[in-house]
Amino acid sequence: MRYNVIKNANNIVNRSPYVVNTPTDYKNSWHQLFGNDNPIALELGMGRGDFIINMAMTYPDINFIGLELNDSQMVMAVNKLAKLELANLKLINADAHDIDKFFGKEIATIYLTFSEPWPKKQDERRRFTHESYLRLYDKIFKRDKHIILKTDNKGFFAYSLESLSQYWYTFECVSFDLHHDERRIPNIMTDFEKKYYEEKRPIYYVDASFKG
Ligand SMILES: C[S@@+](CC[C@H](N)C(=O)[O-])C[C@H]1O[C@@H](n2cnc3c(N)ncnc32)[C@H](O)[C@@H]1O
Repeated sequence: MRYNVIKNANNIVNRSPYVVNTPTDYKNSWHQLFGNDNPIALELGMGRGDFIINMAMTYPDINFIGLELNDSQMVMAVNKLAKLELANLKLINADAHDIDKFFGKEIATIYLTFSEPWPKKQDERRRFTHESYLRLYDKIFKRDKHIILKTDNKGFFAYSLESLSQYWYTFECVSFDLHHDERRIPNIMTDFEKKYYEEKRPIYYVDASFKG
């Protein structure tokens, strides 16, 4: 997917008090950085940040970290945060592939929200639910593994369900149309999700876990 490029995005991002510029320094000490022992949830590919910001505002007893590769996308999140004071939110501008350099076993939940589906077979290893990523997540989950995934892409969803179940995850909740599900699954929308909701596209959702 192509995104608009914002001039000086890197400088804007690096100056934000929410952005942790040297995340490797905090490996195994994120709880100290947050100043509490509350669970830590990580969103991979947070884009413009609506989801993680609203989650942090809604759940003050959970610490949230949003990770995003594209600094132009992150600028939007940084701008939204300029007038907010959220002690339970940090952002990292980096590649998800490097998360084991930033975290020890300290993450409670990973959110995969509208991740790039990488539909071509040759790109399978880039999918955030490929076995190589599931192995990477093992290195940072505190004890139990817990992944919440939302997508509009049926093929990526089917792939993810299969990959997760082959990796011994079990499903607490699966929905093929999150916004019209009778169970009224608690949900905060991401930026992409808002667009797809307006277009009346079904959103696929899975809450998967592995109790260690
Ligand atoms: C389709 S967008 C979804 C953004 C947001 N989660 C949402 O739902 O609005 C996917 C995002 O993942 C980011 N991304 C893709 N590959 C990444 C990687 N390897 N590490 C970190 N972010 C990545 C992209 O830059 C993009 O912002």
